[in-house]
Amino acid sequence: LLRGRGAADLAGRHVLVSAGGTREYLDPVRFLGNRSSGLQGWALARAAVARGAEVTLVAANVALPDPAGVKVVRVETTAELRAEVVSAAAGADAVVMAAAPADFRPAAQATTKIKKADDGSAPSIELVQNPDILAEISHERVRADAVIVGFAAETGDATGDVLTLGRAKLARKRCDLLVVNDVSGGAVFGSPENEAVILGADGRSVAVPRGTKAAVAHAIWDQVVATWS
Ligand code: CTP
Ligand code: CA
Repeated sequence: LLRGRGAADLAGRHVLVSAGGTREYLDPVRFLGNRSSGLQGWALARAAVARGAEVTLVAANVALPDPAGVKVVRVETTAELRAEVVSAAAGADAVVMAAAPADFRPAAQATTKIKKADDGSAPSIELVQNPDILAEISHERVRADAVIVGFAAETGDATGDVLTLGRAKLARKRCDLLVVNDVSGGAVFGSPENEAVILGADGRSVAVPRGTKAAVAHAIWDQVVATWS
């Protein structure tokens, strides 16, 4: 049986991938955003097509052309990403949340451009927390057999190292697999390369050596396939 890159082991499967970083608007022209490029999500979508899957890609602000053979849905905000992911997840055999949704959004959005004051003062921005899409689709599963995959970029801190924080996040989110990146050295954003450890709710831990984002994508699909079988 052929496995990994070159296999048709996703044939007949419908997979959903989210990619990019969401924007939260302060007014019609300004937003809070993040540095996610969407490259890992694009690599996941391409790898899944190559392995025979039907792929839906929900993309938040990604400056890349649609990958061939993929249904691409473009969104901007976390609220839009949530609506598209929740709706497409109902028909998906696997969901991979490679997007970086903004954790916070401005409590209010001005409908007209915020003007600066003559006295040199600046406004304060009150933030509220966004809904956690991965936790929502994992906690309220519409399909018991679907494999749900999250990502976690961690630096490690006083409370634990990268993998300890990853294990805690996997338990909190209740997804099936969590792809943990150590970002303490910087230089993943927009980089063609990545390395990761894939943690499973079943206790598995698979190290993916430094390589292209395509290689990391195939390693993730390998673990999704292993979870189904
Ligand atoms: N995620 C999500 N919805 C959010 C935030 C994150 O679905 N509002 C998903 C991401 O797509 C990723 C996973 O959750 O797959 C982990 O994201 P991360 O930012 O590491 O987790 P957070 O719970 O936001 O925790 P932290 O405080 O470490 O940022
Ligand atoms: Ca976050």
